[in-house]
This record gives sequence, C-alpha cells and structure tokens, in this order.
Amino acid sequence: MHNQIAPIPCRPWMLNGLSERLIVSHYENEYGAAVRALNAIRDEIGNLDFTTATGRQVRSLKQEELACMASVALHELYFANLGGDGKFVPAVADALTRDFGAVDAWRSEFLAAARALRGVAGWVVLNYARRDRRLYVQMSTGHAQSLVDAVPILVLDMHEHAYHIDFGANATAYVDAFMRNIDWGVVADRLAAATGDRPSSQLAAAGDAPAISVKDLSAGTDAAAIARLGLPSVSIEEFSAARAKSERVQVIDVRPRHYYSRNIDMMRGAVWRDPGRVDEWSKELSADRPVFVYCAYGFHVGCSVTAQLQERGLDAKYIRGGLSAWYAAGGARELNAREPEALDL
Ligand SMILES: [Fe+2]
Repeated sequence: MHNQIAPIPCRPWMLNGLSERLIVSHYENEYGAAVRALNAIRDEIGNLDFTTATGRQVRSLKQEELACMASVALHELYFANLGGDGKFVPAVADALTRDFGAVDAWRSEFLAAARALRGVAGWVVLNYARRDRRLYVQMSTGHAQSLVDAVPILVLDMHEHAYHIDFGANATAYVDAFMRNIDWGVVADRLAAATGDRPSSQLAAAGDAPAISVKDLSAGTDAAAIARLGLPSVSIEEFSAARAKSERVQVIDVRPRHYYSRNIDMMRGAVWRDPGRVDEWSKELSADRPVFVYCAYGFHVGCSVTAQLQERGLDAKYIRGGLSAWYAAGGARELNAREPEALDL
C-alpha cells in the first residue's frame, strides 16, 4: 500500500515568526522525501520473496519501513499542531496540571527536552500513555523510538532542517517561535480522542465546522469548513493517474497574481491564470475535457475558482494540497519564464 501525501494542514503564510519559506521547504523536502522513501521501501517489500530472503535483507527493510512510517506520522502531527495562537485551552491545561503538578512545570520539562536536542536532532513528543493514563514528555533521536501504546499529543521537530533557514543554529529562538504557534485546540482534540472522550478527532472537527457558502471562502476559512462544501477534488495521486491516462486534461495554476509573481516556478504542463479574472479566461477552456485547478496549498483560492468553473458548466476539480503537495510528491516543476504582466488575458 502506498502512502499518499497529506496536504499541509497549517497555513504557512499565517504563522507568527516562522517563515513560509521555512515551513514549505520542510514540508516539500523532508516530509515529501519521507513519504517517497516509505513508498519505495514498500515496493521493495512487496517484491521480496520471504521464502528465500536473508535475515539481513528482512531486518534492513523492516527497520527502514518503521523509521519512515514514524517520520511520516510525526511530520504530519507536527505541521498539524502549528497554526494556533499559543494560548492554552482549559482541557489541556487541566491535564498538564494533573500530570506535571502545574503548567509551568510541564513547560519547563518540555523546553529542557528541546534544549537537550540542540545539535543532536530528534523529536520532542508529549505522549498520552494509555497504560498509565497520563501524559509524559518524551524525546527521541531516531524517528521510531516511541513509547509502547502511547498517543502523540504534541510534536516538536528538533532536526536542524526544521529551523536553520530562519534561525541558523539558534534552536532556542526556534523553540520560542514554535511555542507561540501551537494550536492547542488541535492538541485538546487529540487528547480527547486518546482518552476516549471522543471517537475520532477528525470526524468531530468536521462536524463542528460551521456551514459556509463558496462566497464566504477566505484565507482564514477552516479546512473542515471547506471540506463540508463538498467541492469536487482529487488527491495528488489521483490527479497524477488521471494525467498519465489522458493528455486531454487541462491543468490551471490559479495562485494569486502577487503570489505567482514571486514564485514563478510551476507544475510542468500547467498554465497560470489570474483567479480574479475567471470570467475572462474560462471561455478558453473546453467543456468536454476535465479541468484540474491548483493553488499554492489547496485552501480557499483553488476551491473558489473550482466552484466558479463548475457554475459555468465545466468539469472542474481542485487538487488537494495544491502545488506544494505536488512538489512534496516529487512532481516535476518548471520555471515559467514569462512575466506575469505578459499573461494578461
Ligand atoms: Fe522534519
């Protein structure tokens, strides 16, 4: 079974003191590499004849599979617990007080674990141990060193790639910025799911999301609310399969003009169109060929344009995770040498 690239869950341009470049580079390069390595190992395991394989072959592949699975999961948890305002929610503060004596005592232990990994690399994880029914601060220098029967509640990546672009060797400043950006609502949700107070955090989040219309889409629209709109979409893997099957697909890059002008590398084979001028360029599209739309990360812009194209009778779908997920999956990119001004349509 192949792992799919998960769209980046936090909005990289809205973090406080962590640059978009840092977060996106981390997601596309390190997380993407982990998913691709895992899938390559799974292919190798799938092709292995276990009746003749040596113990060394099996050990090596199984250890690599475990490490890659852990890296993929920890990265997804890490990106998803970013994007908040760093303010505690009562349910988590109560649990930390119960298990550490005080929130400050927990913070002190968590920060000490992070400091201990400076120059070493690894993960700091707040785990809920099901056997003990309590929280522990734990750290690992390898991806797969985890407590048995534990649920990661909060994850901090202390590998140098997680901070060097913004902070150089100043890991302390990175950890300060991380603490300011923790989404404690996500942490509370994970804790509730781990303790059995809630069956599924994702389902609960989707159920709690307010109902909105396409016109309400904005940079701050919650991902669960977008999902409830039910707009047609495809994963990166589904899009790749559709494009491999037919050259008739139309692929449109609809990143906002100001964004595109700063980042003119794009998906190979796509054309850029201004998302503010759908009325003008949508007439160029063929109604009998599928249209795939992507924006930078798969949030509001791609969804909004897809809805507008659907209203015009086109078979349009947006690509979940956008261009960033395409790059994370190892998709080909090319530089569009044309200036955005030359693209006025
Ligand atoms: Fe990482």
